Amino acid sequence: MRVLVSGGAGYIGSHTVLSLVAAGHDVVVVDDFSNSKPTVVGRLEALSGVHVPVHAIDLTDAAKTERLFAHEQIDAVVHFAGLKAVGESVAKPLEYYRNNLDSTLSLLEAMRHHGVHRLVFSSSATVYGEHAPVPYTEDYDRLSSSSPYGQTKVMIERIMADVAAADPALRVALLRYFNPVGAHPSGQIGEDPQGIPNNLMPFIAQVAVGRRDKLTVFGDDYPTADGTCERDYLHVEDLAAGHVAALEHLDDMVTPVRAFNLGTGTGTSVLAMLQAFERAVGRELPYEVGPRRAGDLPAFWADPTRAQTELGWQAVKTIDDMCADTWRWQQANPQGFPDA
Ligand code: NAD
Ligand code: WQD
Repeated sequence: MRVLVSGGAGYIGSHTVLSLVAAGHDVVVVDDFSNSKPTVVGRLEALSGVHVPVHAIDLTDAAKTERLFAHEQIDAVVHFAGLKAVGESVAKPLEYYRNNLDSTLSLLEAMRHHGVHRLVFSSSATVYGEHAPVPYTEDYDRLSSSSPYGQTKVMIERIMADVAAADPALRVALLRYFNPVGAHPSGQIGEDPQGIPNNLMPFIAQVAVGRRDKLTVFGDDYPTADGTCERDYLHVEDLAAGHVAALEHLDDMVTPVRAFNLGTGTGTSVLAMLQAFERAVGRELPYEVGPRRAGDLPAFWADPTRAQTELGWQAVKTIDDMCADTWRWQQANPQGFPDA
């Protein structure tokens, strides 16, 4: 298939571009580089051995999105593009609703106009909200999220279901990611947050490489084994493989719109993650325990049974793989991707 990858220069998109090419698909990237660097593209081409066409446009611009579809023959869309920082979305809700909703509407309109009816969407475990029983299963239907970011995912899932109900040809896989971490084993591409990292793994990696003094563990008085929060971390390469599996399964889905959890099914605590990273680095890393972070849930992980049985997908990489690959990337690129 010729696959349009929106947000293909970003963290998960870039790894998925490599997996799609390795699986024999042609890839076209669209990204406005608002949260990524154009230099990632050269690395993708070097690693994949193919030319990767890139359209540097903002998908909230419906006219430009329409022109993109008029110029490129596209069989399917994998839609990563969006803003993703939970805390920032609380401070800038309008920017999040505008960017994430408008970019999705532009894509859906252009897809309808050009008869493209295969779509894979980056949703998130955050749609399960505060009250879903753990492990999370896809049939839980009281979706909600405490942040504007998460709420855009809930709303987009609903919009896609409504559009599919009106268009019998449309097939949509809603992929609910748990906590993606890790990097390509080459050390050439990885997560490159701008500014202070919001998420645990890139923060630990920046402590290890000397860009930050110490990790602050957000609370150790949760009702978990060691008192720190537990999450379902999965390797970004496993996640990328999940996109290929979902894309190739779209035409055979049991319902036109189907949600799939992509996670390992296991929770790991903050301190266990820090210890795993210390094993990868070969030395202890400085940390302190601070107060809880507003909005954090104590512990959640996926029930990945549906992805296993219907997509034939399963996460295979370990926490130690995730840390070793992140460390290789961070050591080789202490300041992330170069500007030019
Ligand atoms: P990322 O920021 O690295 O990648 C997103 C890419 O989209 C960036 O390259 C950015 O420049 C681009 N983009 C943003 N708005 C755009 C627009 N209007 N037009 C064109 N390009 C635009 O993020 P990521 O971690 O790779 O996440 C990808 C997707 O997965 C996002 O939708 C995110 O919400 C979702 N997701 C991420 C996580 C996670 O922990 N990383 C978890 C669950 C879901
Ligand atoms: C993991 C654990 C923190 C940083 C977020 C989004 C979620 C999804 C994935 C997109 C938590 C603790 C963190 C630090 C810490 N994204 N922590 N010190 O919050 O589970 O999920 O990313 O959809 O929607 O909410 O991930 O990596 O921020 O935190 O102690 O400096 O690490 O408290 O327990 P989270 P995270």
